[in-house]
Amino acid sequence: MKDAPALKVSGLDVHYKDFQALWGVSIEIEKGEIVSVIGANGAGKSTLLKTVMGLLAPTRGTIELFGERIDGLRPHETVPRGLALVPEGRRVFSRMTVYENLVMGSYPPKIRAGRDEGMARIYDLFPVLKDRHHQMASTLSGGEQQMLAIGRAMMSRPKILICDELSLGLAPVIIQDIYKRLVQINRDGTTIVLVEQDVQRSLKAADRVYVMLEGKVVLQGDAASLSVDEVKKAYFGI
Ligand SMILES: Nc1ncnc2c1ncn2[C@@H]1O[C@H](COP(=O)(O)OP(=O)(O)OP(=O)(O)O)[C@@H](O)[C@H]1O
Ligand SMILES: [Mg+2]
Repeated sequence: MKDAPALKVSGLDVHYKDFQALWGVSIEIEKGEIVSVIGANGAGKSTLLKTVMGLLAPTRGTIELFGERIDGLRPHETVPRGLALVPEGRRVFSRMTVYENLVMGSYPPKIRAGRDEGMARIYDLFPVLKDRHHQMASTLSGGEQQMLAIGRAMMSRPKILICDELSLGLAPVIIQDIYKRLVQINRDGTTIVLVEQDVQRSLKAADRVYVMLEGKVVLQGDAASLSVDEVKKAYFGI
């Protein structure tokens, strides 16, 4: 029998009070994949990720993680089950050190046990964080803060790492570097969901892509078989 998908979202509706932000969104991600969700400002990408994490509750639809229903669970329940979010805008704790930020990522008790080992792995992946171990997060560059946000999420040893607009406000060379580390994280066995506005980068980085427009999935397919033009048309709704 085929394994259950790593993540399966079916017919998801999400409202902010009277405003409906997601309309019947369905996505399916297999273990080991890198999947991009692409869309313009306001398409509903962050709403989708927040709902998967349990920060928002859906009004309709289901979410399954490796076959287990997780819709309705809160983040303190989804994180120990294997989800971790790198939030839009990084949201590092600016008045804490690099070390303290990483410790914050290992709060579930089951995870705390392997904290030192987890930290060593993250310092291997991002040596610049090791050099800045005792430095306040506010003194890091944008790229270093993004690495810290990824490191903090990786501290819970997620099965699925969910990243919301990693490249926002970063120079191309830094973005390239961060994407290289993501590929490494993926090769080490973590499934990755990326949300981006950048069509070309998303197509390049991902195995498969979903395009969202005004709260709906309007196109999906293998990254290798979709053209930039086709994706851009769906992205702009033309
Ligand atoms: N807290 C909120 N209250 C009311 N409406 C919201 C709230 N957050 C988002 N929305 C609305 O829901 C829709 C989807 O927003 P969302 O943040 O999910 O988009 P996005 O694709 O992540 O956009 P961006 O690329 O700008 O981050 C938008 O129309 C937005 O205005
Ligand atoms: Mg967003």
